[in-house]
Amino acid sequence: MADPGPASFSTRANALLRKNLTYQKRNLWSNVRLIMIPFYLCLILVGIQILFDTQVNNSADNRCGCQCIVKNGDGKCERKSCGFEYSSPDQAFFCSIPSPTRWPPLLQIPRPESRDVRDLGDDSCRRTGSCPVTILFTGNNNSLGTTVSENLLTSSLSVNISDLLLTSANNVLGTSSEADFTNYLDPAIALNLPIYNIQPQCIPNATFPFSFGQPPLMFQKELRCVEGSNRWKNTSREVNDEIFKGYRKGNREGNINEIAAGYDLLNTDSNNFNVHIWYNSTFKEGSRNRLIKLLRVPRSVNLVSNAYLQFLQGPGTRILLEYIKEMPKPETRLRLDIASLIGPLFFTWVILLLFPVILSSLVYEKQQHLRIIMKMHGLGDAPYWLISYAYFLTISMLYVICLMIFGSAIELNFFRLNSYSIQFIFYFLYLNLQIALAFLVSSMFSKVKTSTVAAYIYVFGSGLLGLFLLQFLIQDSSFPRGWIFFMELYPGFSLYRGLYEFSQFAFRGNLRGEDGMRWKDFSDSAMDDVFYIIIVEWFLALIAAYYIDKISSSGKDVLFFLKNPFKKTPPLRRPSLQRQGSKVTVEMEKTDVTQERQRVEQLMLDPSTHAIVCDNLKKVYPGRDGNPPKLAVRGLSLAVPSGECFGMLGPNGAGKTSFINMMTGLLKPTSGTGLVQGLDICNDMDRVYTSMGVCPQHDLLWETLTGREHLLFYGRLKNLKGSVLDQAVEESLKSVNLFHGGVADKPAGKYSGGMKRRLSVAISLIGNPKVVYMDEPSTGLDPASRKNLWTVIKRAKQNTAIILTTHSMEEAEYLCDRLGIFVDGGLQCIGNPKELKGRYGGSYVLTMTTSSEHEQIVEKMIQDVSPNAKRIYHIAGTQKFELPKEEVRITEVFQAVEKAKSNFTVFAWGLADTTLEDVFIKVARTGQAFNVFS
Ligand SMILES: *[C@@H]1O[C@H](CO)[C@@H](O)[C@H](O)[C@H]1NC(C)=O
Ligand SMILES: *[C@@H]1O[C@H](CO)[C@@H](O)[C@H](O)[C@H]1NC(C)=O
Ligand SMILES: *[C@@H]1O[C@H](CO)[C@@H](O)[C@H](O)[C@H]1NC(C)=O
Ligand SMILES: *[C@@H]1O[C@H](CO)[C@@H](O)[C@H](O)[C@H]1NC(C)=O
Repeated sequence: MADPGPASFSTRANALLRKNLTYQKRNLWSNVRLIMIPFYLCLILVGIQILFDTQVNNSADNRCGCQCIVKNGDGKCERKSCGFEYSSPDQAFFCSIPSPTRWPPLLQIPRPESRDVRDLGDDSCRRTGSCPVTILFTGNNNSLGTTVSENLLTSSLSVNISDLLLTSANNVLGTSSEADFTNYLDPAIALNLPIYNIQPQCIPNATFPFSFGQPPLMFQKELRCVEGSNRWKNTSREVNDEIFKGYRKGNREGNINEIAAGYDLLNTDSNNFNVHIWYNSTFKEGSRNRLIKLLRVPRSVNLVSNAYLQFLQGPGTRILLEYIKEMPKPETRLRLDIASLIGPLFFTWVILLLFPVILSSLVYEKQQHLRIIMKMHGLGDAPYWLISYAYFLTISMLYVICLMIFGSAIELNFFRLNSYSIQFIFYFLYLNLQIALAFLVSSMFSKVKTSTVAAYIYVFGSGLLGLFLLQFLIQDSSFPRGWIFFMELYPGFSLYRGLYEFSQFAFRGNLRGEDGMRWKDFSDSAMDDVFYIIIVEWFLALIAAYYIDKISSSGKDVLFFLKNPFKKTPPLRRPSLQRQGSKVTVEMEKTDVTQERQRVEQLMLDPSTHAIVCDNLKKVYPGRDGNPPKLAVRGLSLAVPSGECFGMLGPNGAGKTSFINMMTGLLKPTSGTGLVQGLDICNDMDRVYTSMGVCPQHDLLWETLTGREHLLFYGRLKNLKGSVLDQAVEESLKSVNLFHGGVADKPAGKYSGGMKRRLSVAISLIGNPKVVYMDEPSTGLDPASRKNLWTVIKRAKQNTAIILTTHSMEEAEYLCDRLGIFVDGGLQCIGNPKELKGRYGGSYVLTMTTSSEHEQIVEKMIQDVSPNAKRIYHIAGTQKFELPKEEVRITEVFQAVEKAKSNFTVFAWGLADTTLEDVFIKVARTGQAFNVFS
């Protein structure tokens, strides 16, 4: 098969994309469930709205034109009268009003308990509610001013029964209740509130029955007389002081002394009329929904104009403000869009819910080391980032588009009234920020469980805090806007703020029968701040995530720049040869290992001839908690040509895995280097990965992908395409015995341990990599599969260099061309299995079991046969001897044993040639003895 060369960026991206799509297809149901969440929430909103509509908006009590006339004790309506266009300020909002009623213009006066009593000397009038209403005057000409102020109020109530509006225009009527948002129905008249007629003098407790409005909307009320007192002030400054001191918030003693109105006549004379009017505008605000209430100013303007006219022309002339009347309007159906009001909380949850999904998917690949294994098979950082990002963005956008379509389809004003382009851009930006944040945050978690829990706390916490804290503060107009901006830097709050603005615009638009947010409202809706915050944070999060990923994949601590540079690492302890002066072992280390070292030094001049060259590779783990640093690999030199399988034996913890991790780029060597195909593992790892295969010690597989899909994915990463890919996958599956019985198409999560192992080996070999590392490939396999696997490996090694670690001597002997025994971070010996056996196993092993009193005799007998024999083991009559091959002949041993048998009972005996296992145990033991004190 021709070498297809390293895969291009698009090929790798394609491989990852296809894998992700298959993965999502497997998780179809959880995806459907995810998409259903916005659907359910929208339905809940619609349900709440319907409930609200039937109970409140369209309830019989609130039907247009019906009015409750008699209420029973529980507040329920007993008798209703219908036939009006509208009958309450609430109804006036939504009912159709083709010919609005005329209402008398009222003067806004302070409530009885807060009227100015400073001139009276005592405040006893407050208890009876009969305090006078104060009106202040000032101007340049005192005498003119006094005349005008005297004309302001009429001295007695003049009533014309046949024309009530004229009557109310001729008299000064006032109220202390707020006006409404519209003038369709004045609450002062429609509700049970007093109406005052203001006169210079009053008979105490005088009232007068009066009816307001036109048929059919008539209200019977009583006019209460209240005294109006005009006071002259010398300058407008004094008027200001007077008002300020009486103002509730301006006065420390809590004495409220409010005035009804103030007039500054300025330079008014008989030719000019020039006036400044003070009025109380506090009533304007105070609504939660930022609707602006009307102010009762017209009557105040009319009063002073009328008074001036009378000053000029005498009491017979008048300008009358007879009535005020709203414009006609059509009916609007829904008044209170409750769904829009609770929308921000729901939709914050809906959108934030994607966060745990993305985060756990990223952390899963990290936790299962799938990210690193993909990297080892040639998937670079750039395609991984790009595809994952694009992929999450697509999923998120689909999700939000579904939400918008659902919401619009079931007629939620939240979606329908606001401009779709603003909504789309807002969600798009926020989702980008959310994905970038997930990448950033994923570097802080290593467990899917913790990350999921934390993410859900974030989701629900943000929604609730948004509702109860942020929204509360936004509505409190005295809270500094700067702080709100600061709070919105928290991503959950910027989302909440954006949705809150949408909801407010939708609510108001619906109420007024207008559109919601449009681009022209953009800058005065605080939406612009939210957009800026999101865009800036998005870029920052991307940069930070990229930076942290780079740092952590290069093995450094993320916060390395915060580390104390003056803190010393404990000094390295050198192995001290003197303390364990075993000459034998020192020499043993020298011979073959030194030869290999020299060979590597030669090769370093032209390293590309060998597939793998390690030059004096060292790994030191820094000391922790006062322990000295640990030498995991101490100066390893090794060269493996293509076509060779190098076996690495060694006890657990000897440093084999550290070595493989360095060669596969998981760890950076402390010193020395390794070259793969002439490429340096410290600098060129990305290129090394394109021709490398790894079978890790623990199977790194996606539970839901099938064996075939795994191989297809990794095959594509190795740049196999089309029929070549299919064929390679097919062969691969057959060779590891996963082809038959549909095993290849079962999810890997259902495989037995052995099957997973075989799949891992197949993955490491697909695409004919130049270098393959296998960490204990056959652990957990039954003998038949193991044989099978060996054949596969043997076939694969023809043009590949394989480094294989194993605990099975049989495997090592069968597969490996050369073996190295690795003890405590260093190679103890190196050579082909036969050589090693010959070198270290130059002896027979004789085992003999007798009763224990014969031990001495047996030992003596062996000494006779072989003077240099060593007893290596004895317990309760069983003894083991090592007999050097050069001084014994087997026949002599047999004769000696026969002779012994005739003298005493020999329970059992045996003579064996050394096995690789003996070599291993011997080398490992001496190696460890050598290193134990270092
Ligand atoms: C003030 O107004 C009166 C008319 O009421 C006028 O006769 C008088 O000249 C004015 N005084 C000044 C200083 O303009
Ligand atoms: C009362 O009003 C009617 C209608 O405007 C008018 O004709 C009549 O003269 C008025 N009566 C008085 C006493 O002003
Ligand atoms: C206002 O001015 C008049 C005359 O100019 C003076 O008599 C009076 O004391 C002044 N009032 C106040 C409160 O200053
Ligand atoms: C204006 O009216 C409000 C509401 O009644 C009141 O609290 C406030 O003190 C008034 N302001 C002045 C200057 O009188």
